[in-house]
Amino acid sequence: MYRNSFHKAIGVSALCVMMCAAPVFAKDSDKKMDAFITKLMKKMTLQEKIGQLNLPPGEDIVTGNPQASNLGAIVAKGNAGGTFNVMGAEKVQALQKLAVENTRLGIPLIFGMDVIHGYETVFPIPLGLSASWDMEAIEKAARISAKEASAAGICWTFSPMVDIARDPRWGRMAEGSGEDPYLGSEIARAMVRGYQGDNMKKNDEIMACVKHFALYGAAEGGRDYNTVDMSRQSMYNNYFPPYKAAVEAGAGSVMTSFNTVDGIPATANKWLVTDVLRDQWGFDGFVVTDYESIYEMAKHGVAKGANAAALALKAGTDMDMSSHSFLDNLETAVKDGKVSIDEIDTAVRRVLEAKYKLGLFDNPYKYIDLSREKAEIYTEDNRKAAREIAAKTFVLLKNEGNVLPLRKKGKIALVGPMADNQRDLPGTWSLMARPSKYKTLLQGFKDAVGDNAEILYAKGCNFYGDKRVEKWFSPYNASVMDDRSEENLIEEALKVAQEADVIVAALGEGTQASGESASRCDLTLPETQKKLLEALLATGKPVVMLNFSGRATVLDWESKNVPAILNVWFGGSETGDAIADVVFGDVSPSGKLTVTMPRSVGQIPIHYNHLPLGRPAGKDWKGFQVFRSNYIDVEPTPLYPFGYGLSYTDFDYTDFNLSSTEMEADGEITATVTVTNTGDRAGDEIVQFYTRDLEASTSQPVKLLKHFERISLKPGESRKVSFRITPDDLKFYNYNLEYVAEPGEFLVMAGPDSERVSSLKFVLKE
Ligand code: NOJ
Repeated sequence: MYRNSFHKAIGVSALCVMMCAAPVFAKDSDKKMDAFITKLMKKMTLQEKIGQLNLPPGEDIVTGNPQASNLGAIVAKGNAGGTFNVMGAEKVQALQKLAVENTRLGIPLIFGMDVIHGYETVFPIPLGLSASWDMEAIEKAARISAKEASAAGICWTFSPMVDIARDPRWGRMAEGSGEDPYLGSEIARAMVRGYQGDNMKKNDEIMACVKHFALYGAAEGGRDYNTVDMSRQSMYNNYFPPYKAAVEAGAGSVMTSFNTVDGIPATANKWLVTDVLRDQWGFDGFVVTDYESIYEMAKHGVAKGANAAALALKAGTDMDMSSHSFLDNLETAVKDGKVSIDEIDTAVRRVLEAKYKLGLFDNPYKYIDLSREKAEIYTEDNRKAAREIAAKTFVLLKNEGNVLPLRKKGKIALVGPMADNQRDLPGTWSLMARPSKYKTLLQGFKDAVGDNAEILYAKGCNFYGDKRVEKWFSPYNASVMDDRSEENLIEEALKVAQEADVIVAALGEGTQASGESASRCDLTLPETQKKLLEALLATGKPVVMLNFSGRATVLDWESKNVPAILNVWFGGSETGDAIADVVFGDVSPSGKLTVTMPRSVGQIPIHYNHLPLGRPAGKDWKGFQVFRSNYIDVEPTPLYPFGYGLSYTDFDYTDFNLSSTEMEADGEITATVTVTNTGDRAGDEIVQFYTRDLEASTSQPVKLLKHFERISLKPGESRKVSFRITPDDLKFYNYNLEYVAEPGEFLVMAGPDSERVSSLKFVLKE
């Protein structure tokens, strides 16, 4: 019915309806899309066009009478191209109906949402997912997220977030894939594939939105929304690759970032949004601003009102999220000659193309099916996948005396603010999480051991022990603070600890202590948790620390004093079972760090792919070295390096060899290493290959990840793992931003992490 009304309004033939039904992105269908949109645009008034460029936030829609809400009124006037974060298919349906039936041309809305790491089935936070180094798993997580979100009417997700982050003070490190551009690019591609599937043909494939373009992760001092200032070399070599990879994978949209790039707010930076994104990389989708960033241009001291709107549009930004700046200003800007109709048309066309690609012109209700919403969300299958994937993301940092895995016998004390906590399980940006349905760690442990062992529980401490801080860091600002005194809580924990054979301490950050607007300067364990840990260690019993975190935290003291540490990030809805799977050895830990863990906040930024120095600190640093690059008070090396992670078994790397020590300018050589499981348990290993350019026109990093493979080995089993190296793998952006491989000497390295590598030399010939 709605389709008919739409097509009646724009007078499109039945033939076109059929052709639009399944857009295939060959040239022919592009032509059909162009013709369809040209015809539609001819009917649109300037105001209707500007309406398409407006993206107001979702509000609480009254389903029976959506027009009663402010958003409903905007939609009914034709003043919105879409909206975002509307929760539930019924509300989405009511709004879509309003757009399709109550506006002159009946153009359907696009519905976006921050589906960042799952919908109701929540996967680990992206930083955790990245630690799996498992592209299949990551693609699957995105696929399931798309299925669930689309079952609730969502056709557009504000993900993947691909900002490279080298500074864990920045809370949004949680939302990305860490510090490495190569791994980040692989993950960006996997996520786009997962969300968009077969080009959004099916009703469970949704459009991706790559964010935040660009460089947002390099905010000075790790303070959110802060200035970014960097060289073009660093942009092209270190920060741009994952955005570019996502674009090459076909991402349908891009979101600008809040920061300035070269002093110009990203949203209005023509060099960034048009020259780089569209002209250099060939992006042909649409660009949306991040929340109110056009409005914030005034605060950056660059432009306000109509000038800001005009600058953003002229830069190549198409849709205005939340600031109403396009809606309020573009008509006047046209009258005043600040923007041309052509510039408006270009943006409108891109927004309409996105809707066309999503199949919304054929069926505005393609994604709205109340029965799907009931049947396809938080299913057994999805939860099973989330549990398996979560278990792959945990990183075993230390396991002295093989405390882990625990045996399912005797008495196990489980203590800490995360032990019996549902609300903090999902992690940041879990809009549709239903924590009351999720199993706590305590329940996960109980289910895992059954009648074979006894799990004793005590909370032991609060997260911070300060009411105000506790509230900020709790989901929905609802504090789970226990009002008992610190001493009482510790005393209670010690009672259960004394009774137990082994103690598991579930500690770390609360869910909202990372994510947007959650920058921190002190990344050590909060004092009240440290006191509990010290008391537990003083019992002399073996202690396992589970570190819940949305970033690399500082575990220097713990690394020296706690026998076993498992970094578990925020594992999502199935955390309780997934952690139990690993702690009790049903699954061997296999995650590896995708961010460097510092010894001290003072070392930040610290990342493995730094440039070589004229005066590096000596390799086996024993103390301060004068006139060397180090600190007087802290060892300059990482506590745990990029790529690091232990297993319950051991892997040996032998027979590292190169097929040749010379590579022709158009040739290739192969590096091969043999990996053997020398322990007595099966396990997965992530084998890593790095290269280094030893003679380059601009100084090149001491190591760059270029290849990795995740392999499963049975006890005693060996596997040869190879890296086929071509000149393309040796390319970098030089001073003139040309992408070149320069002849000369190179190293290739292989190993289990970025530090424990063997290296071989070869020459790339002229
Ligand atoms: C602001 C955040 O920076 C961005 O990541 C998010 O997608 C939008 N708000 C929409 O919620």
